[in-house]
Amino acid sequence: MGAPDPIDLSDLEATPPTGTLLAILGELPEHGGKEIIFTEGRFRTSIFIQKTEGGVGVFLNFCPHAGTPLNMFNEKFMDLRGKYLLCRTHGAMFDPKDGKCVRGPCKGKYLRAIAHTIKDGAIYSA
Ligand code: FES
Repeated sequence: MGAPDPIDLSDLEATPPTGTLLAILGELPEHGGKEIIFTEGRFRTSIFIQKTEGGVGVFLNFCPHAGTPLNMFNEKFMDLRGKYLLCRTHGAMFDPKDGKCVRGPCKGKYLRAIAHTIKDGAIYSA
């Protein structure tokens, strides 16, 4: 079974409409990660953007193992080698290309990708 289809950000709780600017690629930090938290009343949605050698991934910040955010205290989502996305809770590692867990307690499951477009060096929700 392959990766599930990306979900539209606007289908999640507290999120902005399609076409919202999420990040300027050139303004991402050197480690390439950025967390974005949307809140509205008691609803909260966290997503993250991660730039890699192969491109850019946008995912719901929700580990398929136990549902925690992948990061803990900062916006770093990659492992030390910069090869896999890492969940800091129990160490699951995910392929940044498609979000598939390649090692750890949720091996074979996927992060949920967020549909997005990239235009003129900027990432927008799709
Ligand atoms: S919650 Fe992510 S590995 Fe357990």
